[in-house]
Amino acid sequence: MTRALPAPVEALVRERAVEPGPLLWLTGAGISAESGIPTFRGPEGYWKVGSRNYHPQQLATRAAFGAMPDEVWAWYLYRRAVCRAAEPNAAHHALVELEERIGPRFRLITQNVDGLHQRAGTKRVYAIHGNIDEMRAVSGRVTAPIPAGIPTDWPKGRALTAADRDLLQVEARPARPHVLWFDECYDEEHFHFDSSLRAAAEASLLVVVGTTGATNLPMQVGMLCARHGTPSIVINPEPNPFSEVVERSGLGIFLQGTAGEWVPALAAAAAEAYAPTP
Ligand code: APR
Repeated sequence: MTRALPAPVEALVRERAVEPGPLLWLTGAGISAESGIPTFRGPEGYWKVGSRNYHPQQLATRAAFGAMPDEVWAWYLYRRAVCRAAEPNAAHHALVELEERIGPRFRLITQNVDGLHQRAGTKRVYAIHGNIDEMRAVSGRVTAPIPAGIPTDWPKGRALTAADRDLLQVEARPARPHVLWFDECYDEEHFHFDSSLRAAAEASLLVVVGTTGATNLPMQVGMLCARHGTPSIVINPEPNPFSEVVERSGLGIFLQGTAGEWVPALAAAAAEAYAPTP
């Protein structure tokens, strides 16, 4: 349940709101945990192909897709079904209300491919790891929604049929999930690399929610803010690299707990502090 913000957090938000620049949020799988979507590095992430158990970091690669495209597609279509069955939670909704109040001063970078921020109604969002509801041509840049003929309730273990394979094409070419894989690089066109770094450089305050900080661009965002002297508020039930930076540098505050406990109260305080005065 939502908790009352400690006074130093309220003071920090008020202090930073008078500085120029956006209030930048960075979210990871933890913000969707209370919607029932397993986190990436949690125990539910594993996937069986034949008799072998794969870790998500082995499957979410261009190399795995090259070697076994049907199996990797089936894994994504199952994960997409899990995301489709989930609903945005109080933390997603709180960010929508905040954006409605502070408009262009709101910015969100999400690592989540589940689309819950977008379904809740957030508009200013950079989905830096793609979107599980989309695909793109393997040899090309065109993206498209996953076709309506592909079941949205794909059960665990269901294999692709020939009809599925026919549907998973963009402009008559084989398609792949529109997500960023571990053996690939960020770019601006699909993954908002430059825009994210610009938002970090300009931010007045960074709020990091529910991420282990295991991927490259989020860590760069955190480091860039720290180099600019921009404080962070870190929300996570566990300490992580972002909370360690905050605790080591004194630049910001670690709020230990879940997104549901802290995000609604923090978003409400930020709405008061960052809203334009009439
Ligand atoms: N509220 C807030 N945080 C939570 C909650 C919760 N209810 N439950 C778990 N967490 C935290 C965990 O403590 C952990 O730090 O969320 C984090 C989830 O970490 P990961 O599963 O590693 O997810 P994430 O950091 O988003 O992964 C980053 O890695 O593999 C890639 O592309 C994939 O986007 C993903 C990226």
